[in-house]
Amino acid sequence: MSQEIRIVSQAEFGAACLEALLSAVAGIAAPVVGLPTGNTPVGLFASLRTAVDHGDADLRAWRPFAIDEYGGPRDHPCSNRAFFARYWDGIAGARGVEQFDPEAPDLDADCARMEAALGAAGGLDVAVLGIGMNGHLAFNEPGSTPGSGTRRVALHEASRVSGSHCWGEETPAWGLTLGLRELLGARPVIVMANGAAKASVVAAAINGPETPDCPASFVRGARRAIWILDEDAASLLRNA
Ligand code: PGA
Repeated sequence: MSQEIRIVSQAEFGAACLEALLSAVAGIAAPVVGLPTGNTPVGLFASLRTAVDHGDADLRAWRPFAIDEYGGPRDHPCSNRAFFARYWDGIAGARGVEQFDPEAPDLDADCARMEAALGAAGGLDVAVLGIGMNGHLAFNEPGSTPGSGTRRVALHEASRVSGSHCWGEETPAWGLTLGLRELLGARPVIVMANGAAKASVVAAAINGPETPDCPASFVRGARRAIWILDEDAASLLRNA
């Protein structure tokens, strides 16, 4: 088990995330990659698009999986599906992202479908994650244990507040998520965080106790974990 912490400037953040991802997939013929949504990965996807356009990256063989989805209308502009349509699908050569279907008549069956698809692909090689204000990874909310599987979850207040910036009054009360079991099995797990608002949760995850109260604290149990932090997000770390 190893946990590496890289601290970069705000301007370098997207490129540093891209460098970590491209290094992680190097040498893997058809890497299975778990992809996040939200504000944090926008710089990563923009950097990836530029790298592909310049011939510096080739993701035609990548097998992308969404790590989570809101329990709202599939085609809502604030859904993770819409995020991937905006930031991923336009990258030359990108395969369609395997995604949850929040409108599936049987949500447990939809989670089982995702888990089976991931299992058939051999599991995640790389998990690229953001961290929620409450320490969640994907929608593994506080209370989640390292063995938790792919499932439907109730969203906690902090996640709903964060979601409400886009969803407004329609903010879903639940979501679908890969479990910590699936995410933390990746090698490596890459966790990205930027901005001062994330500083205290990043410090709790890295310096605090390993606890379900902060699911991101379980990252240190992954075989290999890489944190990419900008200086603001790293500002409350001990010895940073
Ligand atoms: P954010 O979300 O990138 O929009 O801050 C991160 C997360 O909730 O995982």
